[in-house]
Amino acid sequence: MRELTLNMTDITKVYSTEDMDTHALRGIDLEIYKGDFVSICGPSGCGKSTLLSLLGLLDMPTSGKYFIGGTDVSHLNLSEAAYIRNEKIGFIFQSFNLIDELSVFDNIALPLRYRRNKVSEKDIEKKVTECLQIVDMTHRAQHKPNQLSGGQQQRIAIARALVGNPALLLVDEPTGNLDSRNGDAVMEMLQQLNANGTTLCMVTHDPRYADMAGRKLHLLDGKIIDSQTL
Ligand SMILES: Nc1ncnc2c1ncn2[C@@H]1O[C@H](COP(=O)(O)OP(=O)(O)OP(=O)(O)O)[C@@H](O)[C@H]1O
Ligand SMILES: [Mg+2]
Repeated sequence: MRELTLNMTDITKVYSTEDMDTHALRGIDLEIYKGDFVSICGPSGCGKSTLLSLLGLLDMPTSGKYFIGGTDVSHLNLSEAAYIRNEKIGFIFQSFNLIDELSVFDNIALPLRYRRNKVSEKDIEKKVTECLQIVDMTHRAQHKPNQLSGGQQQRIAIARALVGNPALLLVDEPTGNLDSRNGDAVMEMLQQLNANGTTLCMVTHDPRYADMAGRKLHLLDGKIIDSQTL
């Protein structure tokens, strides 16, 4: 039987500001199984990033239920959310979000250094080296992010997302800041990770990349209007 990584039922998200309420998500039902590769597409403003931030516990839903691996994560406080995020979830964003003051090595090591159960420097070294190899960036370990090309920076961001062996990898427009050659390379890398067992959920505007997933969700006005198995 397939193992359920996460499930959402009837999730809504309302952003309230002084003058208006924005219903960013209006009743999302979603199940993601171990090893899945799910892509999410839809027009600007339809709720893709909102859904990803709820999946990644960067924000909490207004209503509905969300479980990760059987644990109810629908209403966590900030520190509980940070703990589960650090243990279980990796993020890759359009804008890389690397820290320019830190070396490539230390950027990748960061999630491990924030672990509640301390990871030894020896284990950190081993894990970071392994991830540098996966993204083929070993020769740049001591560089700073701003000394790298965009495609190389995104590969470092992928290594950082992988270093904690996340149960779920969340990816928001990973190729948005890259030319098509580097974009294709990043997508090939993500596909390879999925082939090796990583569970992936990716937002993209690019139909070619959306079609690389095993399941394609179409979001419109905060609802999943179509789910297509590819
Ligand atoms: N912090 C916030 N406060 C108020 N409204 C917000 C906030 N974040 C997002 N929204 C609104 O929620 C809706 C969904 O936004 P979201 O960022 O999820 O869209 P998206 O599908 O990722 O769009 P894009 O393709 O442009 O990145 C939009 O109408 C947006 O303006
Ligand atoms: Mg977005």
